[in-house]
Amino acid sequence: MIKKAVIPAAGLGTRFLPATKAQPKEMLPIIDTPTIQYVVQEAIDSGIEDILIISGKGKRAIEDHFDRNTELEYILEQKGEHDLATSISRIGEMANIHFIRQKQLNGLGDAIYYAKQHTGDEPFVVMLGDTINDAIIPVTQQLIDIYNQYRQTVIAVERVPRDKIDMYGIVSGNEVSERVYKVNQLIEKPRPAQTKSDLAVAGRYILTPAIYPMLEKVKPGKNKEIQLTDALQLLLQRESIFAYIFEGRRFDVGNKLDYLRTTVEMALKREEFSSQFLDFLKSVVAQAEKK
Ligand code: G1P
Repeated sequence: MIKKAVIPAAGLGTRFLPATKAQPKEMLPIIDTPTIQYVVQEAIDSGIEDILIISGKGKRAIEDHFDRNTELEYILEQKGEHDLATSISRIGEMANIHFIRQKQLNGLGDAIYYAKQHTGDEPFVVMLGDTINDAIIPVTQQLIDIYNQYRQTVIAVERVPRDKIDMYGIVSGNEVSERVYKVNQLIEKPRPAQTKSDLAVAGRYILTPAIYPMLEKVKPGKNKEIQLTDALQLLLQRESIFAYIFEGRRFDVGNKLDYLRTTVEMALKREEFSSQFLDFLKSVVAQAEKK
């Protein structure tokens, strides 16, 4: 049973400066909900009971967000805003959330290593905060189902256009059943000449404790940081790793253009204003086309 999730959230968010100068990038909202809350919700919807957030300097707002704010709840109740008060109090009770601070920004692999004590001898899911998913079965649940079949490391992947492969960890492998690949190589952000594959690591992983000795061994890679992809490549020399093309849509909220696209698509899903917002978009497009 996989009951624990690790969410790395220590990064500086330089791609969103100045918005992230004094607030964590994980708190940037998609409409009215911080991106990290979508990730936590996916974990809960997948049966995860315990979440470890790897935080760092300047990330206190994340802790406050997942704590109760009884004063605010009280004020909302006084104003008769019962539904809002309830939804605010629920955030503080979403899951058992723990925090640990990464002391130095040494890469994703280094961040995951901070989870060693917490995850102990259990397999666990890693969920990157710059990815949110829209799927009938939550992507993390889909990965857990594949893990339960193979009992080995599983990585969520999606196909990406060739001109984007240098933005991702790229996995090559042989298809062993529908959507499942047995991995034979992983490269972090390769140049197009380095791989023929277009299967990109998509922000969700099921890892086992076997990753920790690899993280201890692995040398700094891309950007002179400890890369999780490199540790997985080391692990591959000892045991099998599977990649799974998940069902659903992935939204990358880690860069400005995709963040904007995500906001628009999510707004169109919100019943309370989707039709008004669609009318607005149509008029904006019509105006823009006249120019
Ligand atoms: C990280 C991983 C990369 C993965 C990507 C998915 O990169 O290192 O392998 O494909 O997340 O979003 P980052 O986007 O943090 O540079």
